[in-house]
Amino acid sequence: MAGRLSGKAAIITGAASGQGRVAASVFAAEGALLTLADVDGEGLEETAIAVREAGGDPLLFTGDLTDEPTNEELVRQAVERFGAIDVLYNAAGFVRFAPLHEMTLEDWRFVIDNELTLVFLTTKHVIRAMLERGNGGSIINVSSGSGYHSGTPRHAAHAATKAAIAGLTKQIAVEYGPHGIRCNAIAPGALVYAEGQRRVKSQSIQRPPTGIPLGRHVTPDDTAQWAAFLASDDSPMVTGQVILVDGGSSAGRSTPADT
Ligand SMILES: NC(=O)c1ccc[n+]([C@@H]2O[C@H](COP(=O)([O-])OP(=O)(O)OC[C@H]3O[C@@H](n4cnc5c(N)ncnc54)[C@H](O)[C@@H]3O)[C@@H](O)[C@H]2O)c1
Repeated sequence: MAGRLSGKAAIITGAASGQGRVAASVFAAEGALLTLADVDGEGLEETAIAVREAGGDPLLFTGDLTDEPTNEELVRQAVERFGAIDVLYNAAGFVRFAPLHEMTLEDWRFVIDNELTLVFLTTKHVIRAMLERGNGGSIINVSSGSGYHSGTPRHAAHAATKAAIAGLTKQIAVEYGPHGIRCNAIAPGALVYAEGQRRVKSQSIQRPPTGIPLGRHVTPDDTAQWAAFLASDDSPMVTGQVILVDGGSSAGRSTPADT
């Protein structure tokens, strides 16, 4: 199929829900050869229906990506099916919110594992495959507006992991740039989802889009389009960047007078 990602083999993690699910259909419509991974196998099957309607024929992989052997197996299966990995979109993540002084160590570790460690592990094994093949690649991470500007109550662990994702992204870009491997992150503002886009029920936004210059909340379609751009050959010299997709809300917070 012709498209910006025609013939590119891409792994999308977190593809059972939210941004990963929506990106799966966008990538399929752009011609990508898809491996979709998530701990939620039932959600992956639902996503696959939409992906097939968009023209894709995905490999589905169910497993907990905080586990290292699971990531090795994911990469092994993707390479076996498609011969290579050109793109990794690390969209998987689970978060728990609490005021820092009330957060349990268990919840803190859960967020570190499910927002940061899984990105390390999947990226580690995908980079090994990319280096072995020697033809570069594109890795896309998900940071957050919370990793940039503090102030949202109960976001301590989320802010910490998402700031860490920004640092990790730049490190990967510099260390593996000489091998043709690009790495960027998308940092969305709070998202709103349409019916069917999300299986995880928490975090849904009810409030009006005040403080967003473009006048609406971010959607997973917005981040999926950025991911497709960063995955494609339309962005060959873009690496080490953290792209805020937030309708301009951070611009109003970043003046020296605010700090
Ligand atoms: N929702 C928002 O407003 C928002 C804003 C900024 C950033 N983010 C970040 O975007 C990322 C994706 O969130 P979302 O809201 O698009 O999706 P979501 O919460 O709807 O789905 C995330 C998916 O990741 C999967 N997942 C989580 N941990 C996993 C693991 N250990 N192994 C395998 N799969 C796992 C889940 O099963 C789920 O299908 C997260 O890192 C989140 O913090 C979300």
